[in-house]
Amino acid sequence: MSSFKTIEWKDDKVVMIDQRKLPGEETYIECGTYEEVAEAIRKMVIRGAPAIGVAAAMGIAIGALKTDSGGRDEFFSQVKSISEALKGTRPTAVNLFWAADRMQRVLDNSAKDVEGIKQDLVLEAKRVLEEDIETCKRLGRLGSDLLEDGMTVLTHCNAGALATGGYGTALGVIRAASEVGKDIKVIATETRPFLQGARLTAWELDRDGIPVSLITDSMVGHIMSKGMVDAVVLGADRVASNGDVANKIGTYMISVLAKSHGIPFYVAAPVSTIDYECPDGASIPIEERDRKEVTHIRGHRIAPDVAVFNPAFDITPGDNVSSIITESGIAEKPFTSTLKDLKK
Ligand code: MRU
Repeated sequence: MSSFKTIEWKDDKVVMIDQRKLPGEETYIECGTYEEVAEAIRKMVIRGAPAIGVAAAMGIAIGALKTDSGGRDEFFSQVKSISEALKGTRPTAVNLFWAADRMQRVLDNSAKDVEGIKQDLVLEAKRVLEEDIETCKRLGRLGSDLLEDGMTVLTHCNAGALATGGYGTALGVIRAASEVGKDIKVIATETRPFLQGARLTAWELDRDGIPVSLITDSMVGHIMSKGMVDAVVLGADRVASNGDVANKIGTYMISVLAKSHGIPFYVAAPVSTIDYECPDGASIPIEERDRKEVTHIRGHRIAPDVAVFNPAFDITPGDNVSSIITESGIAEKPFTSTLKDLKK
C-alpha cells in the first residue's frame, strides 16, 4: 500500500490530499458539502478515474446527509440534483457515472426512512472506497504476471494510489510485481499540460522506493528506439465495449510508438471503467480544459496569448492495445467478446 491517504471519510467530512500542491506540499483539504467535493473534482484536487468515482460517491453521501429532508420524495429529488451536480464536473471518466448509479441503487432499493437511507448512503460510499483498494490489488496481482524481473516499464500520467482509493491500476501492477521481488524500473512521462507524471507519479513511486526516471513526453520515441522500454502500462478513463481506450492526452501517441517498436502496450483498469453502453472510442466525450493549463505553468505564462487546444484525453484504438488488465481477468483481442465475459 502507499504511505498516504488519497481520500477518506472522516467525521462526516471528505478528506483528500490536495494533488495540485504535490510534490511541494503534502496538504489535505476537508470538504463538508457536496459543492466543495464537486469543486475539488473540477479543480483536480482529486483526479484519476477511480478516485473521482470514490469522491463522487462520498460527495453524494455528504450532500444527502446535509439535506433538510422534508418527506421521502423531497429527499429523493434533492439527492438527484446533488448527483447531477457531481456528474457535471468531468465528462470523460466513466467511474464518476458508475459511482453515481451505484448510489442511486441504494435509494431505489431501500424501504427505510430518510434517516436510515442517509446512513446507508454513507456506508455505500465507504464501501466504494474499500472495494476500489481491493479491486486494484487484485488487478495488480493479475497484471504483475505480465512483467518479468528486470523489466523497464513506461507509464503515462498518474494511474497510481493518487488516482484511485490507494493502490493504483497501472502503478498497482508495477507495485504488485515489486512486492513479489521483481526488479522493475519505471520511466514516467511528465504528462503535459497538468504534469501528473512529473508531479504525482514520480513523487508516488520515489516515496515508495520504486526506481523511477522522468522524461518529457517528446522523449518517448527516442527512448523506445534505443531499446530502453520493455512494456508500457497505463490506466484508462473509459474503455469502450470494442476495446478503444480513452486516457490522458498523449496515450494515443505512445500506443502508436509502442506498436511501431513491437513493445507490449497494457491498459490496467477496473471493470467499472468499461462502458458497455459505449460502442467505440468515437462515442466517448472528451473533456476540453482551461486554455491556461497550456499557456501557463503554475501561474507563470510561457506562451503568448494565441489560440489553444486543450483536450484532456485522447482515444487509443483497441487495435493498438495488447491486453486490458482488470480485477476479473486479462482481456485479449478480440475485445468485443473478451470484455463482455468480464461483465459483472
Ligand atoms: O485528468 P486526470 O488526471 O484525471 O486523468 C487521469 C488519467 O488519465 C489516468 O490515466 C486515468 O484516470 C486512470 S487512473 C487509475
